[in-house]
Amino acid sequence: MDSEKMKAATVSSEPQEQFHFPVMAKEVVEYLDLPEGAVMVDATVGLGGHSEQILKEYPSISKLIGMDVDQAAISLAKGRLSASAEKVETVNRNFIHIKNTVNSMGIEYVDGIVADLGISSFQLERSGKGFSFKKNELLDMRMDAGLQFSAYDLVNEMKGEELEYIISKYGEEKFSRRIANSIVKSRAKKPIQTSFELASIISNSIPKKFHPKKTHPATKTFQALRISINNELDNLAIFIEEAVKILNTGARLVIISFHSLEDRIVKNMFRKLDSPCVCPPDLPICACGRAQQVRRVTRSVVRPRKSELVENPRARSSKMRVAEGV
Ligand SMILES: C[S@@+](CC[C@H](N)C(=O)[O-])C[C@H]1O[C@@H](n2cnc3c(N)ncnc32)[C@H](O)[C@@H]1O
Repeated sequence: MDSEKMKAATVSSEPQEQFHFPVMAKEVVEYLDLPEGAVMVDATVGLGGHSEQILKEYPSISKLIGMDVDQAAISLAKGRLSASAEKVETVNRNFIHIKNTVNSMGIEYVDGIVADLGISSFQLERSGKGFSFKKNELLDMRMDAGLQFSAYDLVNEMKGEELEYIISKYGEEKFSRRIANSIVKSRAKKPIQTSFELASIISNSIPKKFHPKKTHPATKTFQALRISINNELDNLAIFIEEAVKILNTGARLVIISFHSLEDRIVKNMFRKLDSPCVCPPDLPICACGRAQQVRRVTRSVVRPRKSELVENPRARSSKMRVAEGV
């Protein structure tokens, strides 16, 4: 199939709202606990699901800034949030620039920030970018079309050892060496172009008896490639550092993650940023350098309610953590 036909086959005109239920929306609204006239940032506006809910539950919001690296997501969110267009400002930018973005609007501090990490169901099922092993699409996986390297580049050009490292580190896949070797062998015959080709190479390189029972054998490798291409873990750490700098006192930062690698970063950074100064009280200025930047609102992770999992199985791996400005 040529690339244009393949795209046409995967992007439909059905309303996109049906394809993304915002995860833990009730909890996001509750934990944000916004004051009257709040200014807030949805750092991953996606299809506008969380933003829509937040605008509905807090009608006094004065401004909601919706960021996303994916231009297609921004367009869809704009449409979904058009009823509140006068309050919503969408920005097609990586959330690592959250502080600059907010400050460039003349705003120093905000009253709440939410980030719902990873990819949306639209990106997975309808973007035509090869995120899913269930759709036969050209390998791309860039959320930000401006990124230099696509999944095609990684899979066809990266050294075998580097591929093995990425699959092991970001996919926590124990067959990473076998998978990387099979990819290298296969691409020597002809370039690996589609998600189906890649999924089949991965499946065939894991012995049948070790195929996972509940998930596709390519799940972890696809996750690893996506994380690496989009620099997701480094971006998350930078985002948290920048986001806490613009939190008003008591303003909440709510983060929903979807795998343990992300959750570990959120947990560790919140803990570090919540460590108070340990200098003796009579010391005129802090010498320990451990200025507390946030207070953890949730000590343990918040998981979706059972009733949500029935409606939206995609929520099953989600974990939420909340911290607030001091
Ligand atoms: C799970 S979806 C968000 C869905 C949204 N909360 C909703 O309810 O519709 C994650 C979104 O984050 C975006 N994203 C991922 N990494 C990003 C980054 N570094 N900066 C900004 N947006 C990012 C993706 O493009 C995607 O649209």
